[in-house]
Amino acid sequence: MCGIVAYLGPKEAYPILMNGLKRLEYRGYDSAGIALLNHGLQVFKTKGKVSDLELLLEDKDVAGTIGIAHTRWATHGEPNDVNAHPHVSPDGKLAIIHNGIIENYAILKEEMKQRGYVFKSDTDTEVLAYLIQDVREHEKTDLPETVRLALSQVTGAYAIVVLSLEDPGMLVAARKGSPLVVGIGEGEYFMASDAAPIVEYTRQVVYPGEEEIVVVDLKEGIRIITIANTEKTPYIQTLELNLSALEKGGFPHFMLKEIYEQPRTVRDSMRGRLNMEQGIVVLGGMQDYSRKLINARRIIIIGCGTSWHAGLVGEYLIEELARIPVEVEYASEFRYRNPIIYEDDVVIAISQSGETADTLAAIEMAKSKGATILGICNVVGSSIARATHAGSYTHAGPEIGVASTKAFTSQVTILTLLALMLAEKKGCIAASRYYRLLHELNSIPEKLERTLQFSDQVKHIAEIFCKTSNALYLGRGINFPVALEGALKLKEISYIHAEGYPAAEMKHGPIALIDEAMPVLVVATRKGHYDKVVSNIQEVKARKGVIIAIVSEGDEQVCSLADHCIEIPETDEMLVPLLAAVPLQLLAYHMALLRGCNVDQPRNLAKSVTVE
Ligand code: G6P
Repeated sequence: MCGIVAYLGPKEAYPILMNGLKRLEYRGYDSAGIALLNHGLQVFKTKGKVSDLELLLEDKDVAGTIGIAHTRWATHGEPNDVNAHPHVSPDGKLAIIHNGIIENYAILKEEMKQRGYVFKSDTDTEVLAYLIQDVREHEKTDLPETVRLALSQVTGAYAIVVLSLEDPGMLVAARKGSPLVVGIGEGEYFMASDAAPIVEYTRQVVYPGEEEIVVVDLKEGIRIITIANTEKTPYIQTLELNLSALEKGGFPHFMLKEIYEQPRTVRDSMRGRLNMEQGIVVLGGMQDYSRKLINARRIIIIGCGTSWHAGLVGEYLIEELARIPVEVEYASEFRYRNPIIYEDDVVIAISQSGETADTLAAIEMAKSKGATILGICNVVGSSIARATHAGSYTHAGPEIGVASTKAFTSQVTILTLLALMLAEKKGCIAASRYYRLLHELNSIPEKLERTLQFSDQVKHIAEIFCKTSNALYLGRGINFPVALEGALKLKEISYIHAEGYPAAEMKHGPIALIDEAMPVLVVATRKGHYDKVVSNIQEVKARKGVIIAIVSEGDEQVCSLADHCIEIPETDEMLVPLLAAVPLQLLAYHMALLRGCNVDQPRNLAKSVTVE
């Protein structure tokens, strides 16, 4: 949510910043802006996308070797030119970009208004810019100390970078709750919300910790101090990120590329963890917590959006295979409902970005009550990965399309491995079933390849239904969360109203909606509750409903009832979500495309939700 990027060094800053903004645009894209030191402080900003900013600056003087830039997802104040970042202090000497929320901004703003300050925007960020100037005037401190003193007065979450006309060889950044990475090149420095804008220039990076201030200075190098004023030694790491992972690689959209990456990303999630020769699962990060998990009073899985859906699949997997009670909660609800948490509960937090504010806050809350917290994250070194006691990375690579696809199948893969590991250690799974599942799981990447080959069937169905206004998704058992995820994908990117329901619940309400126009998507694969799902399909057909069924390859029974069928390879019931999710992702993609929607950057959404 909001992308920040900054450069300090000998090169022209503008192309680096613009390039960085394009790489970070997935984080928010309602307005964008840039500030450069070039015969004074030049600030340009506009409502709209990064391309609109580029257009605005076509004939402007954008020279300068130090600058900051921002792409916004509005929190305080509507997306317009004035509310766009950077925000400037009243004396025009200092500019700031910010990702996060200053929670006490209203009080600070009121106090400053009473002292005569006049604000231009509705943002919390502008208040921070004014506060920094105010502190500097009163305390006569240098820029790093001024920022530190100002931030001591602030509550909330932030990643900020401050650029000052009076300190032309320096940038000061700070973070609390929002992500920030600092790149160190040859006599130059980069700062950004994630490593994507940095990796093509340097692989040497520092991830500042919570409540840390980073000062980069052309003469004095890099320095870290905490808000509490303790000096820290910067820990320089080498980035392991492939630049090609950040490109579309010949696909028209990141989302399509990421859907097609799934055979590989699922394999990467299993790599080194599923040992077929020895017939064991070694889930490195979580291994040491096996006993704790097996003896847990409950496993509580928390997450948001697609990660919450993966958690629901995990509940079916862990309860069915390892027979450990699992509860799945929206992180946003969990954190505020004063839940009962015991010390022998294990909380598993799932997050692609590792940044989601609600998930992070829920972790802190559960931690404070003594629970063990494990993480399943995609982004290495992210806040959630650092806040948990241990965990496993999904290794799906950067996910840039705002609608999550490959992250989901990777999260489900890790949860499957975890369920199998616990089941085997606990001794509650028959050896034959265990080995059959290991074998099946190992064949999922190849089956995903085959699933993707049915994509023309999906496209054809999208052409028929792309004008619909509503869609119902049904599934039973472990495929109920798949129905939820399918519906989420469709609404996120095509803006078609879609609902996921347990198939049997249909008769308690949604059946009233069924008519000849609304497609009803049913996950009706051969295993599991097949006969029951067939009955549900018949109930829909009896009311002249239109059925699109996800079926096991060669299923004639359902295909004779359904209006349209999409085939997926046969697999164990427990593993169907890994395959069935894919045609639903593709369907949403094609429907959105046919409706002229921006597939990678759907309206109002953001990839990393760093605000609650
Ligand atoms: C946003 C994204 C979703 C994602 C959710 C949770 O809403 O648009 O795709 O599922 O956040 O994000 P996380 O990074 O915690 O998985």
